[in-house]
Formats: sequence, C-alpha cells, structure tokens
Amino acid sequence: MPIAAAQCTITCTKSNLTIEWRPGSLPLLDLIEQAGGRAAYSCRYGNCHTCVVDVISGEVAHPPDITPPGDGKMLPCCAAPVSDKLVLVI
Ligand code: FES
Repeated sequence: MPIAAAQCTITCTKSNLTIEWRPGSLPLLDLIEQAGGRAAYSCRYGNCHTCVVDVISGEVAHPPDITPPGDGKMLPCCAAPVSDKLVLVI
C-alpha cells in the first residue's frame, strides 16, 4: 500500500465541502458525514462497495485486503489519501 499523505485537502463537489484530512483522522466517509455531506454506505469496511465515489483528481490507496473499485474511483470508508489534494464527486 502506498504511503498515506502527510495531510490532504479534500474537495467534495456535490456537497460543496472542503475537508482537511491527516493520518489518524477518522475515515473519509466519517469526515464527510461530520462535515454535513451525505454519503451512501452499508458495511463501512470495504466489502460492499456501496460507498464508491468518483475521484476527479488526486490519488488514494485502499488497504491491501480490500478489492479496490477500479480506476478513478474510491471507497471513502477505507481508502486513505496519497496526494495532498483530492477532488471527489460526492
Ligand atoms: S460502505 Fe461498504 S465498501 Fe464502503
């Protein structure tokens, strides 16, 4: 798994939110919800892919035991930013 970013500014285009993430932060899904964003979810640990979102720019890494959703997509319940900026369609 690539090394997570030291920090990341996450822009959520549909929710019109900007969120700061650091290692040790809550999962992105939780941060988005805390900031007032609405995200679909079910399992919250990378199994169901209900939470999948499109990544417009930036890089993320999923845990090695999780099947990633494919290019240009991420699971905010379990993926971590690798780049210092991330733009998501959520
Ligand atoms: S909520 Fe199930 S994979 Fe994210």
